[in-house]
Amino acid sequence: MKVLALLGSPRKGGNTEILLQAVLAGMAAAGGEIETVRLCEMDFQPCLNCGGCEKTGTCVLADDMTPLYDRLDAAGRIVLAAPIYFYNIPAHAKAFIDRTQSFWSRKRLLQKAGRWHEDPNRKGFLVSVAATHGRRVFDGAVLTMKYACDALGVVYGGDYLVRGIDRRGEMLKATAALAEARAAGERFMR
Ligand SMILES: Cc1cc2nc3c(=O)[nH]c(=O)nc-3n(C[C@H](O)[C@H](O)[C@H](O)COP(=O)(O)O)c2cc1C
Repeated sequence: MKVLALLGSPRKGGNTEILLQAVLAGMAAAGGEIETVRLCEMDFQPCLNCGGCEKTGTCVLADDMTPLYDRLDAAGRIVLAAPIYFYNIPAHAKAFIDRTQSFWSRKRLLQKAGRWHEDPNRKGFLVSVAATHGRRVFDGAVLTMKYACDALGVVYGGDYLVRGIDRRGEMLKATAALAEARAAGERFMR
């Protein structure tokens, strides 16, 4: 099964990337064919709310997001990995999510035409890291990812979230969490 992982942290080799690698190792062990995309290295515009996709179900903008739409459609598992910035995901990752509005429009058009079929076997997963231990620190990111899964037509299959990790590479020291994250990745493939 194809796994598309979207890495939404601008910090190379940072905590989110380390945690994502653990989740992906589990997914690969369970047979996933992994492709990772670094959102911060892509050149794409934010959604303009131009209304184009409401007519066609397709985004009118032509940039690095364009080839990603087909890959999102082909993936059986979609993983978004992003740290918490101000109680949500960073700007690049949010801009990516906003550009999935065309999937939302396509879904609505297909629903109107009675041609929408949800595939319960396609799933999304969120990986995130935050510096603080706030009880609600991941609420915004989880809600954003749940709504994105709805637009993408995949089931929200869960998340692996780690609190209290801040300095670059600090995630490497959390060996128990990394082992759990790998196991969560394996389970997510089932
Ligand atoms: C602009 C910015 C905003 C942040 N906002 C929060 C926040 O609201 N809550 C929190 O717990 N951590 C916050 N953090 C800390 C990061 O989530 C934390 O350093 C994380 O480990 C970074 O992961 P990375 O190494 O993948 O970049 C913020 C960091 C930055 C740079």
